[in-house]
Order: sequence, then structure tokens, then C-alpha cells
Amino acid sequence: MRILMVCLGNICRSPMAEGILRSRADEAGVRLEVDSAGTSGYHAGEAPDERAVRCLIRRGVDISGLRARQFSAADFDRFDRIFVMDDHNLRDVLGASPHPAHHERVSMLLGLTHPGNPPGVPDPWYGGEEGFEEVFNLLDEACARLVEQLRRAR
Ligand code: 4NP
Repeated sequence: MRILMVCLGNICRSPMAEGILRSRADEAGVRLEVDSAGTSGYHAGEAPDERAVRCLIRRGVDISGLRARQFSAADFDRFDRIFVMDDHNLRDVLGASPHPAHHERVSMLLGLTHPGNPPGVPDPWYGGEEGFEEVFNLLDEACARLVEQLRRAR
């Protein structure tokens, strides 16, 4: 199973989700390929935001080696499931392909914890460290649910 996490810049939310999911899958013995990308290319080539790196280091997860890249339509063929952080990401990712088979692979990440009408993961870029803690909690719960679903489906 190959999973892609997508946000706007690929320096805050989606690299955090990538690191958290990889760590939880490893712990559960679920084999996954995980990557992340941003709908924008503004930060391509950059390491994750240092607030995101610090937030995860406190939990023993090191994402400092990740580098941002821009999402492209080719990702629809490379990943089984694509999780987006908010409605803007959803619109941009769906807009990158006209194919319903591609659209079926795309979901709001918080649909895992809030089925029905999932909220977005708030963008922590403009706020302080506490915003990253809030984002961590949302991402971690969603990733735990996903790993549990995948473990049961094995
Ligand atoms: P992310 O956060 O989408 O969670 O990586 C952002 C990072 C940078 C910007 C916006 C959001 N920006 O406008 O540069």
C-alpha cells in the first residue's frame, strides 16, 4: 500500500503526517510506503518548518531529512490512497485529473476520525508552537485509525 499526504506547502502538515504515519505503521508492523507533497511549489526543496520538526522530535520522530516537493498528476498513478489536509487541497488535487478512478483515491485525512463532514487540519504556518501541538493531535489520531484499518484489512 502506497500512501501520499498532501497539504499546501509540504513543510508543515503533510510532512508531519508522513512522519507520524510511518512511525505508527512501523510500530504496528504494517508495511506501508508513505510520501508527502504540496499543491504549491513555493517551498520545493526545503526541509520541514522547524516548529514541525521540533514538535515531532519531542515524540521521537525525526522528519528533518524530508524535502518538500510539488504534487503532480503523476502521483495518481504512484499512490493507492491520497489524503489531503483541507478543502483547498481537495479542490486542487481533484482538479489535477479528470479521471473518476483517480478521484476515488482521494480523501480528507480527518474523514478517518470525523466521517460524514470532515473538518480541515488547520494550517499552523502563521501561528505559534501551540498550533503545531493541535495539528499533531489531529494527525496522530487520524494516522492511528488508518493503521488500525489497514491492520484489520490484512
Ligand atoms: P503547510 O503549511 O501547507 O501545512 O505546509 C504552509 C506552509 C507555507 C505556506 C502556507 C502553508 N505559505 O504560504 O508559504
